[in-house]
Amino acid sequence: MKSCVIAVINQKGGVGKTTTTVNLATAIAAIGKKVLVLDLDPQGNATTGFGISKGRGPRSSYGVLLGLVDPNEVILETYVNDLSIIPSTIDLSAADVELFGQKDRDCKLKQSIGDLEYDYIFVDCPPGFGLININALNASQKIIIPLQCEFYALEGLAQLFNTIQSVRNTINKNLIVSGILLTMYDRRNSLSFTVADDVRRHFKSLVFSTVIPRNVRISEASSHGKPVVIYDMKSMGAISYIELAREFLNRELAR
Ligand SMILES: Nc1ncnc2c1ncn2[C@@H]1O[C@H](COP(=O)(O)OP(=O)(O)O)[C@@H](O)[C@H]1O
Ligand SMILES: [Mg+2]
Repeated sequence: MKSCVIAVINQKGGVGKTTTTVNLATAIAAIGKKVLVLDLDPQGNATTGFGISKGRGPRSSYGVLLGLVDPNEVILETYVNDLSIIPSTIDLSAADVELFGQKDRDCKLKQSIGDLEYDYIFVDCPPGFGLININALNASQKIIIPLQCEFYALEGLAQLFNTIQSVRNTINKNLIVSGILLTMYDRRNSLSFTVADDVRRHFKSLVFSTVIPRNVRISEASSHGKPVVIYDMKSMGAISYIELAREFLNRELAR
């Protein structure tokens, strides 16, 4: 594998996976790295998050996942320097079923993107534990787990770690968790504090020091088809994601 592939994953929806993918990728590209976003969610929120309208057909992450197209032919430039994307289309929602009967069904993505040369490929994963996510975990070296600071945050995390462990035991023994990211932290809500404290006590240094606050500029930005780090560089949301990019790269150096 020539690129460092990072899956941004949590089986829950609405926890900040796409927001983290889009903004971390943009912030890291801004530092001068060559970055690719692979939108593996049929919803295509990372695609529209870069102002790219959703198309149809195999010239997309669907075709790449199923090995129907050369990924180099479907990569689009974004308006961010050094940041490209493989967009998603709704066709991807059939991929689980289509993969099911195939013999290398766990390895399709890895085979497809193995020759791409980027510093980092960030994979925006769909919710759930279907074959799309098994392919993402198999094709990745690292994982980032966004965790929303709310009551049920920890619920389901054990199941995610079990899945990661079984992927390690079978198809991808070197898979590591780069970090758990606390998102949508609301400092006016004591529950946010309690959840963050619990998660840190349990997972210690696995949790990024950087916390992403709940910040309305983040959701505004996505509705304008822009990462918040471009839409409003001075917002707390943008500042936090830029800080996360620094912390992420420092963790990379420390390894
Ligand atoms: N830190 C944040 N503050 C405010 N809104 C956020 C924040 N992070 C994400 N959102 C919003 O919450 C919703 C879900 O986030 P998203 O990144 O799409 O989650 P997922 O990809 O895990 O489903 C989106 O509308 C997004 O704009
Ligand atoms: Mg998403």
